[in-house]
Amino acid sequence: MKNGPVTSTLQTMADVWDAYREELEGVEDQVRKNLDSKVTLVNTVAAHLLSGGGKRIRPLLVLLCARLCGHTDKDHLVLASLIELIHTATLLHDDVVDEADLRRGRRTAGKVWGNQVSILVGDYLYSKAICQTVVFQNQAINEVLSEACHKMAEGEVLQLDYNGNPLITESEYLRIVEYKTASLIAASCRIGAIIGGAQIDKQAALFRFGQHIGIAFQLADDTLDYAANGDRLGKSLGQDLRQGKATLPLLHLLQHCPDQDKQMIKDRMETRTLTEADLLRIISLMQEYGSISYTMDRASEFVVAANLDLASFEDSSPKRALSVVADYMVNRDR
Ligand code: IPE
Ligand code: IPE
Ligand code: MG
Ligand code: MG
Repeated sequence: MKNGPVTSTLQTMADVWDAYREELEGVEDQVRKNLDSKVTLVNTVAAHLLSGGGKRIRPLLVLLCARLCGHTDKDHLVLASLIELIHTATLLHDDVVDEADLRRGRRTAGKVWGNQVSILVGDYLYSKAICQTVVFQNQAINEVLSEACHKMAEGEVLQLDYNGNPLITESEYLRIVEYKTASLIAASCRIGAIIGGAQIDKQAALFRFGQHIGIAFQLADDTLDYAANGDRLGKSLGQDLRQGKATLPLLHLLQHCPDQDKQMIKDRMETRTLTEADLLRIISLMQEYGSISYTMDRASEFVVAANLDLASFEDSSPKRALSVVADYMVNRDR
């Protein structure tokens, strides 16, 4: 789809996915081309995850930001696919760390092939993506991507360090979120801007846009962990608390619920035992004390900030699409 005047047809994510279908299919072709290891198990494990669906938000952001900045060529599809490979690597690692059993509606790679295989295939995808990225010989892209990779790792370690700790503050929680999730989303936006030949100030604006929607995205994810339809989400509900992770809805609840419930929650976090009945009780407390709506309101504030980051760009179809993506961060069910 070419840059053009704002089209009123881009109202929902379905419209955006539809409008950019051809380019996204190009991304999928590139992803498949990269699964060419001579070690069959590597390809099998990666394909298990990559063919399981996934929203492809990060590659979509690369191509939207590239188009926004006037890119007309097709070489951005390769870079967009490499970002998805890195994302896939982080999911393989994250599911081991979180002892997750479901991802994209399928058993996680760790449950099918074991944690060792998951970690090593994750390493393969990470390094393969970096190898393919350096081929572009674009120092700015190398810097943005390598920075995002180490930030993500730091975010995951930081979160692990806080496991079982109900005393984490909202700002510490937001730092984890910024590192582990927003950094790759922000990098995707900046890489799109770099490919599009944008000036530094425009690159920085799109990077900030990515940070803001990335934080909103994770806040919504942490809410969905309590409030989603599990089948649609393709992940198990209550997984954060089961792992001793105090995310924003739970932090809010801990500040507002009676001592007796607080004690129960702290106990479940410490012992990492959570029955279905406990989960239902906690979800109902979250609804009673407004913890779900508090978190979603905070997420919406980040979406507002993200839309302001787009202010310096002229109206265009990709700009409209980015705004729809920003809203989708907090209006999604998977
Ligand atoms: C999952 O990311 C990991 C988080 C940062 C919450 P996505 O929700 O983008 O996962 P897929 O790619 O659509 O499965
Ligand atoms: C995922 O965070 C962040 C990364 C993969 C770096 P979560 O652990 O909260 O995401 P889900 O819920 O497993 O997708
Ligand atoms: Mg996880
Ligand atoms: Mg995790």
